[in-house]
Amino acid sequence: MAQIVRIFAGRAQNVIQTAAKQPQLGARFYCAAATNLQYIKTELAGEKKNVAVITLNRSKAFNALCNGLMAEINITLDKYEKDDSVAAIIITGSEKAFAAGADIKEMQFNTYGKLIMGSHFNDWTSVAKCQKPLIAAVNGYALGGGCELAMMCDIIYAGDKAKFGQPEIALGTIPGAGGTQRLTRVVGKSKAMEMCLTGNMINAVEAEKMGLVSKVVADDQLMTEAIKLGEKIATHSQLVVQLCKEAVNTAYETTLQEGLKFEKRTFHATFATADRKEGMTAFVEKRAAKFNNN
Ligand code: CAA
Repeated sequence: MAQIVRIFAGRAQNVIQTAAKQPQLGARFYCAAATNLQYIKTELAGEKKNVAVITLNRSKAFNALCNGLMAEINITLDKYEKDDSVAAIIITGSEKAFAAGADIKEMQFNTYGKLIMGSHFNDWTSVAKCQKPLIAAVNGYALGGGCELAMMCDIIYAGDKAKFGQPEIALGTIPGAGGTQRLTRVVGKSKAMEMCLTGNMINAVEAEKMGLVSKVVADDQLMTEAIKLGEKIATHSQLVVQLCKEAVNTAYETTLQEGLKFEKRTFHATFATADRKEGMTAFVEKRAAKFNNN
C-alpha cells in the first residue's frame, strides 16, 4: 500500500513539474493529480469552511512566482471552481511578501523565441478568468508579478506594512502580466506611469488612496478580515455573485455603452433565477433569504 501511495505522489509531482515546464498545455488538464503541492498551501476557512485560502509557500524566495507555483495556483483554482462548497477564494503570501514578482532566476536565461514558443505568462491569465470571487490578502511586498497577481484578483485587502510596485524597469524589462494595463485602468495614467517608469514602491495607505486596495488593516488582522469578507460574499447567491463579478469586470473590457447594455441584460437575466425571486420575497416577508444557487 505504502508503495502505491509513493508511486501516486511521485506521479502527481511529475505532472505538476510537466505543467510548469509546458505551461502552454494548460494547467486545467492536470486537475485530477493536484495532490502534492510544493509551492503553495491550501485550506478551507470560515465558520462554514466555505472560504478557500491559497497561501504562497516560497517564503525564502519572497514567494517569487516560478512556473511551478503558477501551475499549482491554476490547478488549485480549477479544483475550487468545481467545488460547490467554496464561495470565495483568498490568495495570500507570507508576512514579508505576498510575492516579489516573477522568478527572476528562472527568467534570466529566457530568449525572445523561447518566450513566444512557450506562450510565457499564459498560465497567469487563467487566474483572471476564475469565475468565483478572488480576494488578494497582501502583507509585505507585492512587486512586479506579485502586484499583477493581486490585481488579477477582484478585491485587494492589505496589511498596513504592505508595499506595491512595478519594478521591472530596473531589470531592463516591463511588466508582462498586466501591470501596464490593469494598473492604468485602476489608478489612472499619471500614477501608473510614475510607478512603471520609476519602479518606485508605494505603501498600503497610498495604494488605498489610489483605489488599488479596498481596505488597509493591521497586518496581524489581515487574514481575519479577508476571511470575514469571503464569508459575507458567501451569504449571497453564488450564481448571482458570479453574474455580478462578470458585469463589474466588463467595465474594464469594453465601452461604457456596451458595458451598460451588458449590465442591463445581466440584470434582466437574474429575473430568470429562483434566487432573485427568493431574495425579493424574503425582503417583503421580512426574513433572511435562503439561496440555493439556482
Ligand atoms: N525572483 C527570484 N528571487 C527573488 C525575487 C524574484 N522576483 N525576489 C526576491 N528573491 C529572492 C532573492 O534572490 C533572495 O534569495 P537568495 O537569499 O537566495 O539570494 C531572497 O529572495 C531574499 O531577497 P533579498 O535578499 O533581495 O531581500 P531584501 O529584503 O534585501 O529585498 C526585495 C527584498 C525588495 C523584494 C528584493 O528581493 C527585490 O527587489 N526583489 C525583486 C523584485 C522585482 O524586481 N520584481 C519584479 C520581477 S519581474 C516580473 O515580475 C515580471 C512580470 O511582470 C511578471
